[in-house]
Amino acid sequence: MSQPSIHVSPTPAAVADDAAQRLTRAYEESIAAKNRFSLALSGGSTPRLLYQALASPQYINRFDWTKVHIFFSDERCVPPDHTDSNYHMARQAMLQHLPIPLDNIYRMHGETDPQTAARDYDQLLQQEFGDGGCDVVLLGMGDDGHTASLFPHTQALNELQHRCAANFVPKLNTWRLTMTAPFINRAWQVMILATGAAKADRLRQVLEENPDPQEVPITLIRPELGRLEWLLDVAAAGME
Ligand code: 6PG
Repeated sequence: MSQPSIHVSPTPAAVADDAAQRLTRAYEESIAAKNRFSLALSGGSTPRLLYQALASPQYINRFDWTKVHIFFSDERCVPPDHTDSNYHMARQAMLQHLPIPLDNIYRMHGETDPQTAARDYDQLLQQEFGDGGCDVVLLGMGDDGHTASLFPHTQALNELQHRCAANFVPKLNTWRLTMTAPFINRAWQVMILATGAAKADRLRQVLEENPDPQEVPITLIRPELGRLEWLLDVAAAGME
């Protein structure tokens, strides 16, 4: 694995713009190589600004959306129109504004039985990627060090065979669907976006120490052949 790179921007909006520029370059490289681009979206609130940027006049026409295939790094076990749904957030902020074929959007079916939804998405990822991975996986980080829905001391951290897993999260008392670390690590590029002072202490621990992955799951994210980029604002980088 190549060394992670860290990029600090002054504000969350500047982080979103930096990420949008990097995604544009990754898209251009993928289209030049194979005329297709696969992107896994993260959930939570941080990426909303990025999704809005990609759907804005500044970026929307930088992509031929018929060649872009959208996946999800994780999903809550709720219907797709639920306010907690990562798909719902991405749809509102970006997907509904894009000239993208609906068939190019591969939703995790949070509304169905978690084990069935995970198995179905695992099979989809196997069909789409074989032994490979996404061109780009977007991730965030919770202040407990979780990423996607890989939470501390949960079963999915130990999943080495499958590409997607159903994961019960005791602290939330809920099931989640998540890409597994081994699949995420097969991406050509992983971009972790983190903003806000609340993440500064955890980020320092992740970047400067080598915490136990069971305690701090984001340390499992180490792309095998691809690159890992941390896109931070000054607050999260502890530079305020
Ligand atoms: C989710 C996300 C999750 C998120 C972190 C950070 O489904 O919630 O995939 O991993 O990236 O919790 O969330 P914020 O961006 O809201 O801080």
